[in-house]
Amino acid sequence: KVYTDYFFDEPAYNTHDGGFIPLEEPKAPQQPLKIPELLKPDKETDTDMYYTVIAQTGEVQLLPGKKTKTWGYNTDLLGKTILFKKDKMIHITLKNELPELTTFHWHGLNVSGPITDGGCHAPVYPGESTQIEFKCDQPAATLWLHAHPCPATAEHVWKGLATAVVVKDDVESKLPFPRNYGVDDIPLILQDRRFHEDNQWDYMADYDPDGVQGPTAMINGTINPYFDVTTQRLRLRILDGANRREWRLHFSDDLKFTQIASDGGIMPEPVDFTHLMLTCAERAEVIVDFGQYKPGDEVTLFCDDVPIMRFRIHEFAPDNTQLPDHLVDIPDPDVTPGAPVHKVVMSGMDEEVMMNGKKFDMQRIDDKQKLGNVEYWDISNTNDMSNGMVHPYHMHGTQFQVVSRNGHEPYPNEHGLKDTVGVNPGETVRLKVGFDHLGVYMNHCHIIEHEDGGMMAQFEVYDPDHPKQYKLMDMDTL
Ligand code: C2O
Ligand code: CU
Ligand code: CU
Repeated sequence: KVYTDYFFDEPAYNTHDGGFIPLEEPKAPQQPLKIPELLKPDKETDTDMYYTVIAQTGEVQLLPGKKTKTWGYNTDLLGKTILFKKDKMIHITLKNELPELTTFHWHGLNVSGPITDGGCHAPVYPGESTQIEFKCDQPAATLWLHAHPCPATAEHVWKGLATAVVVKDDVESKLPFPRNYGVDDIPLILQDRRFHEDNQWDYMADYDPDGVQGPTAMINGTINPYFDVTTQRLRLRILDGANRREWRLHFSDDLKFTQIASDGGIMPEPVDFTHLMLTCAERAEVIVDFGQYKPGDEVTLFCDDVPIMRFRIHEFAPDNTQLPDHLVDIPDPDVTPGAPVHKVVMSGMDEEVMMNGKKFDMQRIDDKQKLGNVEYWDISNTNDMSNGMVHPYHMHGTQFQVVSRNGHEPYPNEHGLKDTVGVNPGETVRLKVGFDHLGVYMNHCHIIEHEDGGMMAQFEVYDPDHPKQYKLMDMDTL
């Protein structure tokens, strides 16, 4: 079966929202897609990996003319791709060379909060560095690192502080997937920007409390990119790294592609699509088979009806690899007996956004979950169907399962582990969430301006036998 649907509520299509800025085809000439380098470990042993991640300022030639001032991790814009191997201890030095404080949040990583997780309680001040350490104990997946200094997360990400993180394990390595990084396995970080005078970005000038957008698509920090295809099958690790844009993706010729992984890792079954929508912070790994094309052909990737990237087909060896019908088993723990169904309500738009009727407060713990519990969480979006927005709901420190949408089956690509799920206006999405690490974590809408605007809460995962005190930042100590 090939799904030809985007799977979202048509009334929630974001052009219904007054502030929506449609993409425009860039006037800039086509440029080769930038492939982020892999970050070199400082050291690696059989059991440990050591990295240094530096937040820094930079400038990049994005358009003809003046360079654009940017921020990035270990490079001018975005970052190098960071590789973790499952079961190794990871040691990271986090260095801030920016003129202001930032944090290093590992989106999708199951680690303890709030410090290792890197949300707003883990500032690294300008000129300083800190160390974190954790065991990588989750399956192969495409995660990401982004800044998270509340309430300036959106601006830091807009300036460029976002990069791909790839977890490897030996389940994934036995599956017949392309995995030659940069050749047939590439990240695609989808973002959009508006260029002002002298090719600069101006976050404040573009500010919209419902999310900052620009008309120009930017992929891996490349405007109007093309990629040279030299293998029949290509694996794309797609991340919606935009502040608020949903990406409705499809190829020319309605070329079919196969999704193999969602946010938290490989899906139980591959799913074939011609159209795919990603909301902010969601990831999809897809395999595209170019078998029907010949050298000289070009395949175009569109968002809505705007071409955002070209695939130039070159000579390739025939590859008739078939994917198995079943890829991996997803652990499916039982809900803890007696655990109440937890309710989260996302309400409002613009400055009115709230979670459970409240604005985010860094000093307030909104919920407490016992370590090891597995609970149903019902996530509602009270926006009305005629002009509301999809709120991409995200939880730190865990990967959940999507159980149902308004009581119906989740979308066909929601049977794997996820950490972000688009909740349509008028909808309640039931999640099954496990709490396996101690700490204080954030849960929020991943339209980053909604998050910064207060559509965010905190929960503490606790061990009743070993209560802990956390030092929580407040806006004044920042
Ligand atoms: Cu990707 Cu709290 O964030
Ligand atoms: Cu996160
Ligand atoms: Cu939102």
